[in-house]
Amino acid sequence: MKALCWHGHGDVRVDTVPDPKIQSPTDAIVKITSSGICGSDLHLLDGYMPTMKSGDVLGHEPMGEVVEVGSSVTKLKKGDRVVVPFTISCGECFFCKKTLFSCCDTSNPNAEIARKAMGHSPAGLFGFSHMLGGFPGGQAEYLRVPYADVGPIKIESGLPDDKVLFLSDIFPTGYMAAENCDIEAGDTVAVWGCGPVAQFAIKSAWMLGAGRVIAIDRVPERLEMARVHGKAETINFDEHDVYDKLQSMTKGRGPDRCIDAVGCEAHGTGGVDAVIDKAKAAVLLTTDRAHVLRQAIMCCRKGGTISVPGAYVGFPDKLPFGAFMNKGLTMKSGQTHMQRYLKPLLAKIESGEIDPSFVITHHLKLSEAPEAYKTFRDKKDGCIKVVLHPDA
Ligand SMILES: NC(=O)c1ccc[n+]([C@@H]2O[C@H](COP(=O)([O-])OP(=O)(O)OC[C@H]3O[C@@H](n4cnc5c(N)ncnc54)[C@H](O)[C@@H]3O)[C@@H](O)[C@H]2O)c1
Ligand SMILES: [Zn+2]
Ligand SMILES: [Zn+2]
Repeated sequence: MKALCWHGHGDVRVDTVPDPKIQSPTDAIVKITSSGICGSDLHLLDGYMPTMKSGDVLGHEPMGEVVEVGSSVTKLKKGDRVVVPFTISCGECFFCKKTLFSCCDTSNPNAEIARKAMGHSPAGLFGFSHMLGGFPGGQAEYLRVPYADVGPIKIESGLPDDKVLFLSDIFPTGYMAAENCDIEAGDTVAVWGCGPVAQFAIKSAWMLGAGRVIAIDRVPERLEMARVHGKAETINFDEHDVYDKLQSMTKGRGPDRCIDAVGCEAHGTGGVDAVIDKAKAAVLLTTDRAHVLRQAIMCCRKGGTISVPGAYVGFPDKLPFGAFMNKGLTMKSGQTHMQRYLKPLLAKIESGEIDPSFVITHHLKLSEAPEAYKTFRDKKDGCIKVVLHPDA
């Protein structure tokens, strides 16, 4: 089959690779119809994630049709239409039973590598390094889905791919990001980034009772999307000092809840910390440019909450932990516990409360994926979200 493969920093190609096969009775094989490119894929493209190997198949936002199931799969059958969440979870371990699906203790066969890096291993993820399982991803014609009775959600309502595809990652991720803020009615929520994850965090903040949402980025069309679709007020960080602006917008108190939907590749304008991050990243001395996380800690009101859906990899430094402690802040983070959100968020799509397709700017063929990665990374051509489709 054709699949988008990683070959090194800045180098992804469409290769011919072996078709996936059922390896365990709990597997299913899905023929892909749509597959998103995520901001997390950019961290791979840009070489921030260790333990990638040349030839790894990328992609963790897939959906399609079940073409084969293992002998013990009971919930899916050939012909079912499914969205596949990016976290691979067994459904039975201590963590899965607590609905902490992205912390599954069973699904990562390379848990020992992750344990050495992080103390404990998170769940295996599709298309996301060998440390996180080495599972081939879904930017391909076919995908092997382990624990097929636990992950995929069936789409039986006939809704088009564009409306349901983002149940695979960014809608639940934005939702959990807002939920992790513990929003109280009327709160002011500041969201760093206006990428796809941020767009869903903004919408979810309103769903969970925010009184005001302020979104921060510098890409004009992303800021516009946050204003038009997200009904957010916006700050362009190229034009304003974000700390000063947020304080003046909140009468000096600071936003109640802060969401870092940027993660380890934050751009900084002017700040010394960002200049040092960039220099260290250039010589591979850090995998994390934590400018946004630092800024969120400084900006957040005393006693407020910081939620971090943005991905971090290693050891971000220069965090103002004194401010964090003395201001009595709370921080919550995590890869999204996907399976917890699939059914309730599908219900919101089915009822018409939200149509997630608003973020899509580009539909492209799988064969165009290498170019699409660069267009998305460089924010060219108004690109906010790319959906790939295997060539007919
Ligand atoms: N926790 C999870 O399970 C999960 C799931 C999906 C994605 N993610 C992570 O969420 C983050 C966002 O993903 P995305 O797809 O929206 O990515 P994206 O790259 O499209 O968006 C990031 C946005 O941040 C903006 N930005 C950069 N520096 C900034 C700064 N200093 N202040 C404000 N904005 C800034 C960029 O201009 C860009 O628009 C990534 O780190 C991704 O890895 C996490
Ligand atoms: Zn993702
Ligand atoms: Zn588990």
